[in-house]
Amino acid sequence: MIRVGIAGAAGRMGKSLIAACQESDEVTLAAALEHSDSAVLGQDAGEIAGLSRVGVPIRSDLVAICDSIDVLIDFTRPESTLGHVSLARDRGMRMVIGTTGFSAEQRRTIEEAGQSIAIILAPNMSVGVNLVLKLLELAARTIGEYTDIEIVEAHHRHKVDAPSGTALRMGEVVAEALGRDLRSCAVFGRQGNMGERDRKTIGFATIRAGDIVGEHTVMFADEGERVEISHKASSRSTFAKGALRAAQWVMGQTHGLFDMQDVLGLKVR
Ligand SMILES: NC(=O)c1ccc[n+]([C@@H]2O[C@H](COP(=O)([O-])OP(=O)(O)OC[C@H]3O[C@@H](n4cnc5c(N)ncnc54)[C@H](OP(=O)(O)O)[C@@H]3O)[C@@H](O)[C@H]2O)c1
Repeated sequence: MIRVGIAGAAGRMGKSLIAACQESDEVTLAAALEHSDSAVLGQDAGEIAGLSRVGVPIRSDLVAICDSIDVLIDFTRPESTLGHVSLARDRGMRMVIGTTGFSAEQRRTIEEAGQSIAIILAPNMSVGVNLVLKLLELAARTIGEYTDIEIVEAHHRHKVDAPSGTALRMGEVVAEALGRDLRSCAVFGRQGNMGERDRKTIGFATIRAGDIVGEHTVMFADEGERVEISHKASSRSTFAKGALRAAQWVMGQTHGLFDMQDVLGLKVR
């Protein structure tokens, strides 16, 4: 049985992860973390998630629980994840990171930590989205050179980063397949007189509304036809199940930075 700690236990994903642990025969919830100002410290993780008591209190001290967990699953905010990464590196602890919105520098710090501990970093843990990433590679190679490529994503009103980490990853996959650099060809939103569209750009549009769990569409549009590849998540449990699958997979690794394509065996190395 793999013992996991969940950072961000009282958040939307945290609650979903607690529920997924309760349903799992391979993974057990050994610790639940929130920040030191959290109003739910000391409360039972199961009750926080709307379930029955599980006997795991919400705590704020990662150092104190390090020895009782095998993997830390982190769905918090970039700054707090970075703090957890630093501690995990010192303690040789494996991590599964679902947090999104890292700067390039923060990402580099995670890459460096991957030289000494095993980390899975994935902006989207769902199997469906990771299959879509493979389909995008094929679509980009087949029709990407002569079509206009636009990525539209929608999430709930509480999401703080934009575009979503998943949308950016989709953009990276398409750009890489076409030999482009997303940093120089991305267009984030349009306003005013922008002139005609440049074929070589990849456009992003963001919707934030209500309780949308997560929707992404990548459009390859030509004159006369367009191809759209879409993914719609209707429950956070899909991300939580993926994160637990990642936690099991990472136990077989000693160090390195991996993503869900590695976990699902979709990567051609
Ligand atoms: N990879 C994926 O598949 C996937 C799927 C869904 C979401 N996400 C990402 O996961 C992250 C969390 O999403 P969410 O919807 O669960 O957000 P959320 O509901 O805001 O949950 C984040 C939780 O982390 C807590 N937190 C902040 N700092 C902390 C710290 N130092 N230690 C422990 N807990 C801390 C927050 O507490 P306060 O609210 O009190 O600040 C909150 O309870 C976001 O970056 C989101 O984009 C990834």
